[in-house]
Amino acid sequence: MPRILIAPSVLAADFSRLSEQLRQAEEAGADWFHLDVMDGRFVPNISFGPPVIESIRAITKLPLDTHLMIKEPDRYVKDFRNAGADCITVHQEACRHLHRTVMRIKELGARAGVAINPATPVATLTEVLGDVDLILIMSVNPGFGGQSFIPGSLQKLAEARTLIAEAGRSISLEVDGGIDVSNAQGVVEAGADVLVAGTSVFRQGTIAEAMQRLRTSIEQRTPAS
Ligand code: DX5
Ligand code: ZN
Repeated sequence: MPRILIAPSVLAADFSRLSEQLRQAEEAGADWFHLDVMDGRFVPNISFGPPVIESIRAITKLPLDTHLMIKEPDRYVKDFRNAGADCITVHQEACRHLHRTVMRIKELGARAGVAINPATPVATLTEVLGDVDLILIMSVNPGFGGQSFIPGSLQKLAEARTLIAEAGRSISLEVDGGIDVSNAQGVVEAGADVLVAGTSVFRQGTIAEAMQRLRTSIEQRTPAS
C-alpha cells in the first residue's frame, strides 16, 4: 500500500509560537506543510502571502504545499515559488486558462496542483491530467479552518482516483477540510494519499498526540483488493 502523507495546515497553528509548533509537527511525522493563501476575493477571508512563506521556508526543510485560494493566481505564482513553495496549487474556478497556469508553475520548477471546490465536478480536470502533479479535492468550502467535512467528497475522491489510474501518471490525490480521526480512514479508502489537517493537528491536545491519533486511524484502513 502506498504511504499516506499528512500535511498539517499551518493556518490552524498558533502564529505567536509558529516555529515551535512546526518543529513539533515535524518531529511527530508531518510529511509536508500545507500553506493556505487567501485573498479576501476568491474566498471571504485573508490569510498570509509570500513573506510568511519565506519565513517558514527558513525554519523547515519539509516540502511546502501552497494552496492558493486567490483570484488571478498567474500574477503571483512566481512570487510564491521564489518564497520557497515546492508545490503550488491553484483553483480550477480561479483560472480562465488553467492549462497555461499549470505549465507556468511547472516552468518555475514547482509541482503543479489543481484544486476543486465542493460544487465543482471532478470531470472538469480531465484535460489537465496529463500535466498536473497533484489534484486537491476540497472537502469544505474554502476560506476557513475548522469546518465540517462534506460527506459527498468521498465519491469525488473515488472518481478522481479512477481518473488518475486511467491517466497512468503519478499524481498525488489530496483532500483538504475537516479531516480528523472520524473520517481519515474513509478518505484514504476512497483514494486520497495526502491528508491536509489543521484543527485536528494544532487544536486538539498536543500536536504529537494529535498526529499519532491521525496516523493510527489511517493505518487501520482496509487494504485495497
Ligand atoms: C480551508 C483550507 C484548509 C483548512 C483546513 O479553506 O484550505 O486547508 O486550513 O483546516 P481544517 O483541517 O481545520 O478544516
Ligand atoms: Zn488548504
